[in-house]
Amino acid sequence: MSNNPDSNFSTRLRQVTQDDHSEAETSEFITTLMGGKRSARDYTLLIAQYAHIYAALEEEVRALDNDPEFGSIFDPALERSGQIAKDLEVLLPAHGFTSLPDALPATKVYIAAIREAAKEPARLVAHHYLRYLGDLSGGLAIGKLVARHYSIAPEALNMWDFGDIEKPKVYKDAYRTKLDSLGADPLAAEALLDEAKRGFRWNKGIFEDLLRSSNGELVSA
Ligand code: HEM
Repeated sequence: MSNNPDSNFSTRLRQVTQDDHSEAETSEFITTLMGGKRSARDYTLLIAQYAHIYAALEEEVRALDNDPEFGSIFDPALERSGQIAKDLEVLLPAHGFTSLPDALPATKVYIAAIREAAKEPARLVAHHYLRYLGDLSGGLAIGKLVARHYSIAPEALNMWDFGDIEKPKVYKDAYRTKLDSLGADPLAAEALLDEAKRGFRWNKGIFEDLLRSSNGELVSA
C-alpha cells in the first residue's frame, strides 16, 4: 500500500460505507430516540436487541481470539455482553418486561449473518468494526442523550462505559491501523468491505423492526 493516507484500507472502508452509514443513522427509530421523542421503554427494546446481537458476536469473536492473523483486532475490553446484562437487570423490570424480549426478525437475520461471517474471519471483522467502532462513536452520543431525555440512571448505562478505554479517539485510530494491516490482503479487504456494507443495512433493518415493535406492529416480548 502507498503512504498516501487516502489509500489506507480503513479510509477506504469508511468512504465506501459512508452512504450506508448515513442511511442507518438517519433511521426514524434512532433519530427520534436520540431526539427525546420516544421513551425509556423503547431504549430498553434497543438494548434487548443488543443483548442478542452481542451474545452471538462475542461468542464467534472469542472462538477466533488466538487466530494469528485476526486475533490482534479482538480485544476483551470491547466486550459488551456483561455490561448489557447489568443494564437489563435495571431496565427490564422498570419498563414492564418480565423477561428478555425475543430477538426481532431483523435481529435474527443479523445474527444469522454474523454466524455465517464467522466462517470467513475477514467478514467477522467487518461486524466487529461496525458494532464496536460504532459504539465508540455515535453510540456514546446515544448514551448521553437517552440519559438526558429519559432520565436513565448511570447504573443502566453500562453499555456505553468502556472503562479500560479512556480515550475513544486514540483507541479508534489504533484500531484503524490494525484494519490497515488486515486490508493489505486483497481477498480479506474485499470480503471485509462487502460485509461491512451489508452490515450497515442489517443494522438499519433492526431500527426499522424496532420502530414497528414500538408502534405495536411487531410483537417483541
Ligand atoms: C445512532 C445513530 C448514529 C450516529 C449519530 C452515528 C454517528 C457517528 C459519528 C459521528 C461517527 C464519526 C466518529 C469519528 O470520526 O470518530 C461515526 C462513526 C462510525 N459509526 Fe456511526 N452513527 C450512528 C449509527 C451507526 C450504526 C447503526 C452503525 C453500525 C452498526 C455505525 C457504525 C459506525 C462506525 C463503524 C464508525 C467508524 C467509522 C470509521 O471511522 O471507520 N454507526 N458514527
